[in-house]
Amino acid sequence: MTEQKNLPLVEKTRLSDDVYLLGFEMPGAIQFRAGQFAMLRAAHSLDPFLRRPLAIFRQENHIVYFLMQVKGKGTKQLSSMQPGDTTDILLPLGNGFPDTEGDCLILAGGMGIAPVFSLLLSTEKPTLIYGARTESELFALDIIRETNSEFIISTDDGSTGEKGDVISVFSRLFPDFHGNILACGPDAMISSLRRATEGKNVRAFASLEARMACGVGACSGCAIRTKNGMKRVCRDGPVFDIAELIM
Ligand SMILES: Cc1cc2nc3c(=O)[nH]c(=O)nc-3n(C[C@H](O)[C@H](O)[C@H](O)COP(=O)(O)OP(=O)(O)OC[C@H]3O[C@@H](n4cnc5c(N)ncnc54)[C@H](O)[C@@H]3O)c2cc1C
Ligand code: FES
Repeated sequence: MTEQKNLPLVEKTRLSDDVYLLGFEMPGAIQFRAGQFAMLRAAHSLDPFLRRPLAIFRQENHIVYFLMQVKGKGTKQLSSMQPGDTTDILLPLGNGFPDTEGDCLILAGGMGIAPVFSLLLSTEKPTLIYGARTESELFALDIIRETNSEFIISTDDGSTGEKGDVISVFSRLFPDFHGNILACGPDAMISSLRRATEGKNVRAFASLEARMACGVGACSGCAIRTKNGMKRVCRDGPVFDIAELIM
């Protein structure tokens, strides 16, 4: 059930110039599916007024973690919070990734690692391909290594791991893959995944990003056109079967 809370920041780790791992203490454990998200705003300020969506990265010992890249005003303000400051938070939101049976590949591009990370804990023997433009833009590798996933890294410039973008590495290493793919990354990556899996025996789901205002299905600000009509990314998604998407 979605709840609104004011939670104290208890952990803040700066992973690069503009990427942070933020941990907020919960009064108790929350039930969430991988791919669900929260809407957050620093509680001391009403500017910006609207909360910002962040995927629930993981939960451990009653601390809920978010992996966040600073983009503009809202994320800048969250990044300037200090331990003890509180955030106004609404969670969990959205549908999350579906349960799957059989072989499952998890594909993450850039900050797309945030929504898929907890799949590594909930999926049996997952294989992850995690890519970024370059080595310094791959985050949370230590935390990923602690999971029991098979784990392939790729970089567009070949600075570490397989050279190439996530989808071309997937196509090269798994040419005959059939089963389920759970993915998150930039729109170009999701379009490319759709082309790469078209006509194959693959069911692929992707977590999408959209600008959000309410985050709870009330304003239609995040609506997208799909083959099944207009859908709200916050309420009907953010995870969609990619066969449904018009890209
Ligand atoms: C379901 C969902 C989960 C998300 N999970 C994460 C996460 O785990 N970690 C993370 O770092 N980010 C995540 N994002 C993206 C994050 O919400 C935006 O970066 C943030 O809202 C930007 O707010 P801002 O006030 O800092 O920037 P603004 O000042 O509002 O915008 C700054 C720039 O970012 C662009 N932008 C803003 N919002 C989005 C968006 N939703 N998608 C694409 N571009 C945007 C704007 O066009 C502008 O160029 C998620 C988004 C969604 C919809
Ligand atoms: S953000 Fe308001 S309906 Fe999705």
